[in-house]
Amino acid sequence: MRKIIGLFGLLSCSVAFSQSPVDCSFPKEDLFALGSYYYPEQWDASQWERDLKKMSEMGIQFTHFAEFAWGMLEPEEGVYHFDWLDRAVSLADKYGLKVILCTPSPTPPVWLSKKYPDVLIQRDNGIKIQHGRRQHASWSSDRYRQYVETIVSKLGERYGNHPAVIGWQIDNEPGHYGLVDYSPNAQMKFRIWLKKKYGTIEKLNETWGTSFWSETYQTFDQICLPNAQELPEKPNPHAMLDLNRFMADELASFVNMQADVLRRHIDKTQWVTTNLIPIFNPVDPVRIDQLDFLTYTRYLVTGHKSGIGDQGFRLGIPEDIGFSNDQFRNFVGKAYGVMELQPGQVNWGVYNPQPMPGAVRMWVYHVFAGGGKFVCNYRFRQPLKGSEQYHYGMVMTDGVTISPGGEEYVQIAQEMKKLRLAYDLTDRIPQSLSSRRVGMLFDMNSYWETEFQKQTDQWSMMSHIHKYYNLLKSFVAPVDVISEKDDFSAYPFLIAPAYQLLDSGLVERWTHYVKQGGHLILTCRTAQKDRDAKLWEAPLAAPIHALIGIDNLFYDHMPWNLFGNVVFNGQKYAWNNWADVLTPKNDTEVWATYADQFYQGAASVIHRKSGKGSVTYIGTDTDDGKLEAAVMRRVYAEAEVSIENLPYGVVKEWRDGFYIALNYTSDIQQIAIPETAEVLIGSAQLKPAGVVVWKEKESKRK
Ligand code: GAL
Repeated sequence: MRKIIGLFGLLSCSVAFSQSPVDCSFPKEDLFALGSYYYPEQWDASQWERDLKKMSEMGIQFTHFAEFAWGMLEPEEGVYHFDWLDRAVSLADKYGLKVILCTPSPTPPVWLSKKYPDVLIQRDNGIKIQHGRRQHASWSSDRYRQYVETIVSKLGERYGNHPAVIGWQIDNEPGHYGLVDYSPNAQMKFRIWLKKKYGTIEKLNETWGTSFWSETYQTFDQICLPNAQELPEKPNPHAMLDLNRFMADELASFVNMQADVLRRHIDKTQWVTTNLIPIFNPVDPVRIDQLDFLTYTRYLVTGHKSGIGDQGFRLGIPEDIGFSNDQFRNFVGKAYGVMELQPGQVNWGVYNPQPMPGAVRMWVYHVFAGGGKFVCNYRFRQPLKGSEQYHYGMVMTDGVTISPGGEEYVQIAQEMKKLRLAYDLTDRIPQSLSSRRVGMLFDMNSYWETEFQKQTDQWSMMSHIHKYYNLLKSFVAPVDVISEKDDFSAYPFLIAPAYQLLDSGLVERWTHYVKQGGHLILTCRTAQKDRDAKLWEAPLAAPIHALIGIDNLFYDHMPWNLFGNVVFNGQKYAWNNWADVLTPKNDTEVWATYADQFYQGAASVIHRKSGKGSVTYIGTDTDDGKLEAAVMRRVYAEAEVSIENLPYGVVKEWRDGFYIALNYTSDIQQIAIPETAEVLIGSAQLKPAGVVVWKEKESKRK
């Protein structure tokens, strides 16, 4: 058994002592690690040593190689060139840099695509994707999978016991960049998937409701992947849901398959991960369950979002990192890292502003604050030619001058030394925070379904979810974005926003959770359908009527330029997105009612004590979220749990005994820090992109 030394050489560990390979590479006492992408194949070999030495001198602890290097590793079928990668890995090792090696499956070489064009994906308009760029091969192609298996085995055999290699990244942002693959291979695999799921064509017809519009199929062979390009109007909704599930399964099985191949060759101290774009079709991370942990990639300043205040476009928005932290921490392995963060301007934005000085550092601290193991910044050097010209690196175009973002990493590396010294492994989360903990139940199936059948053009699932998420973060409530695989009892509060698809088993779990003292919050659209996206042969949302205490409900929408009103605690709140209009039972408390429309006086928000806990149903979705904020404050007040009230854009988190506050707003923000606290980094007055880290006495309590 190989022993591996943690990134700082402080501790040697061995999986024989039941430490996970992730803990081996990133021991708890090291707190946090920094990495950077490097492409040896892109630079003259004479510069590698200079670059890797510099990376190490800047305080970076690991580098990341080869996710796009298949063409260099296997320039001809069966001819392998590992010498260059051997040299790059040894140079990294020479300068104390550990290495994440990647499987190069996103970029099959040209000989493969030309010899076997059937491995390529196909667009919805029938055009076959050409060789070039990346993510162009189909996970549904058995041939491609075989070639992937071979190259992955070769890499595993060669580097699976290399002491500098800490772990593996499979593929790169698997997802075909949003394209649905309509290749013949995908069509065939879809039919196989359907057959496995439904068994008989009658069952499929019954589930998809095909008796309407003569959609009825006689055999599985007659079915095609639903394709809006080929249809006069929207596809069958159940076919669409199955398309999303199929694609997510194909992706997951492709990634899981590679993990399996790697594990046949690599030492147990090397871990396996992949890097996912968060909330991105067709990825359902819950299905990628054979890895040691998952990582995500994030680009915050790309001209797509205006942010908070006049400089917000240089800062990004907090939920882009916060929500992903809180979600990825809860996937397989219950650990996460961030595999890509920009060190400066990118090349692919709508427009490409310079990030605010300090923003790169703030994002890294945000990942740290969420409990992340590491950030690996994308990328060390800015390309001078080929793709991604204009994408900033840690060093400028001359290859040696440290970029402003690179300087921020140098600063973080120094600051981490200070935090490590102040770290006390016995620190536990203070009761003031743990009492606010909330589990946020999220499921891609409800996301797919409500996005496909929005019912109003004002519906956006992620806006709905982020509204509640940001609100809870403004309370400084620790949030875990969880799935049904998780145990709800760990959370004093549980929220399931617009959880449209469910079954009676989940409702029973919720009912039990409430009886045991949990505070459950449900919102509009919840429980309208079964897992197959069929409405119940019963009143709308029937399975939760008893739980939330209603006899009936219907929903309403208004046009974008007109508003209805809801009255809560004597105050009026405007809405026009979504209104569930509720008929409560006699013993259900009505918290808010509609102030107009033909259902004036009907309930919008209801609350019910049950067992030792409570359930609150918020039927209305507003643009500004003010109603939701007022209601959620009352939920916490009735549960006698104190909360804070931060403005949107100010982030406050606790991690391992450290409080961290960040400022995503364009204004100076004053953070309340107790006099007795020890401020370790920064100060209570936060400039835009500012960071402050402190320790409070209470956090010593066990
Ligand atoms: C990511 C991708 C990287 C690189 C980067 C540029 O989405 O995974 O390979 O292209 O964008 O910002």
